[in-house]
Amino acid sequence: MKDIDAQKKLVYLETYGCQMNDRDSERMLALLAKQGYRETKEVGSAGLIVINTCSIRQKAEQKVYSRLGRLKSWKQEDKTRLLAVAGCMAQQEGERFLRRVRHVDLVLGPGELFRLPELLKEVEEIRRPLVATDLDKDEGRWQDQLQPEHSGQVTALVTVMEGCDNYCSYCIVPYVRGRERSRPADEIVDEVERLVAKGVREVTLIGQNVNSYGKKNGAGTNFAQLLDRIEQVAGLERIRFITSHPRDLFPDLTERFRPGGKLCEHIHLPVQSGSTRVLKLMGRGYTREEYLEKVARLKSICPDIAITTDIIVGFPGESEEDFEQTLSLMEEVKFDNSFSFKFSPRPGTRATKMADDVAAELKTERLIRLQRLQRDLAEKKNRGLEGRIRYILVEGPSKKKADELCGRTRCNRVVNFVGPSTLIGKLVKLRIETGLPNSLRASVI
Ligand code: 5AD
Ligand code: SF4
Repeated sequence: MKDIDAQKKLVYLETYGCQMNDRDSERMLALLAKQGYRETKEVGSAGLIVINTCSIRQKAEQKVYSRLGRLKSWKQEDKTRLLAVAGCMAQQEGERFLRRVRHVDLVLGPGELFRLPELLKEVEEIRRPLVATDLDKDEGRWQDQLQPEHSGQVTALVTVMEGCDNYCSYCIVPYVRGRERSRPADEIVDEVERLVAKGVREVTLIGQNVNSYGKKNGAGTNFAQLLDRIEQVAGLERIRFITSHPRDLFPDLTERFRPGGKLCEHIHLPVQSGSTRVLKLMGRGYTREEYLEKVARLKSICPDIAITTDIIVGFPGESEEDFEQTLSLMEEVKFDNSFSFKFSPRPGTRATKMADDVAAELKTERLIRLQRLQRDLAEKKNRGLEGRIRYILVEGPSKKKADELCGRTRCNRVVNFVGPSTLIGKLVKLRIETGLPNSLRASVI
């Protein structure tokens, strides 16, 4: 009997999507830990499975549906096991989810995440599935910003705002994450201080649109001012943030990239397209020229800044000429890295009303051309770093080789090197030996 109870308290959690979901998964695990749950990496041994989902593109959704399909036998083996679906697809589909995947017990939207333990109890008591997808609950929104319990964590994600009011014509985020809300600055600073006291050396401030922090309920603090306050936290070495909207990148924030501070020399600045005509259809609120101006300003303040981006190919009406403008913008900016995607129509968004008229093969071809160019640019930049000295914050064992360590430069480049595990959590001086397309190899000096 005891063993069965112990198994019930093992949770297996799988995360899809962005850093907001990564953070939500940490929070769910921490909430469950308070109820006596422990995490397992083995599906078969779990009494509870949580799938934290993403609905940004159709492909992300298909992955989740096929994953859930494969979990049917796990549920059938023991009906007291619980399967929860959280995140953006849960929000998007709500009740419909239960009709589509009948072995799901709980559908939990991002706005009700903090109710997870209470809802699981309720599902067990009433013995039927529940759906909780209220996005506008303000009570509880910022509560339980629990961080993972394990010590030795060097970097941490800290939520500063949630939601998005931009309504880009292709994007589902405003519908699944709700309106923009900023977290009180005092709470953010407190959290960073607590993390640093536990040994964290680097924080990444996260939100769908961090540079509109404070526009709503920010109590008079804008994002640049929030950075200034976090800069003051003694013992913190590095600050990063993600994601910013180019339209809201104002000089006060650009100014914070002046070298010498804790803010790392990297900005993720999704451009989406290099064609002003397409940008207008996307509802982005800036032109190609305005984007390039902002990049030029960033580079003049911080010549070494790494700029990464997101790009959509095959947006409705994108001509060869529009696409070539994206390629030329990529060449001009020389992005350090980019994430590129084929346009995928999302339910309820304005772009679904436009004709999805770029043929599938053409979308694939454009994606390949774009990614080839990006790979060349990144490889060239990384090669250019060979022989240079860099400080790396060592995060842990390398993902590829267990006997190596890995960390990142201030410019967010992944660096692998051989060294003793005592270096984890430390800033280490390394010489870059080899520049690869997606990472660097280095040696300890
Ligand atoms: N189709 C393709 N890509 C999309 N993105 C967002 N919505 C869509 C869509 N409907 C991309 C954007 C965004 C990134 C997170 O995902 O590039 O910046
Ligand atoms: Fe995916 Fe967007 Fe939700 Fe992140 S916020 S999980 S990218 S749909």
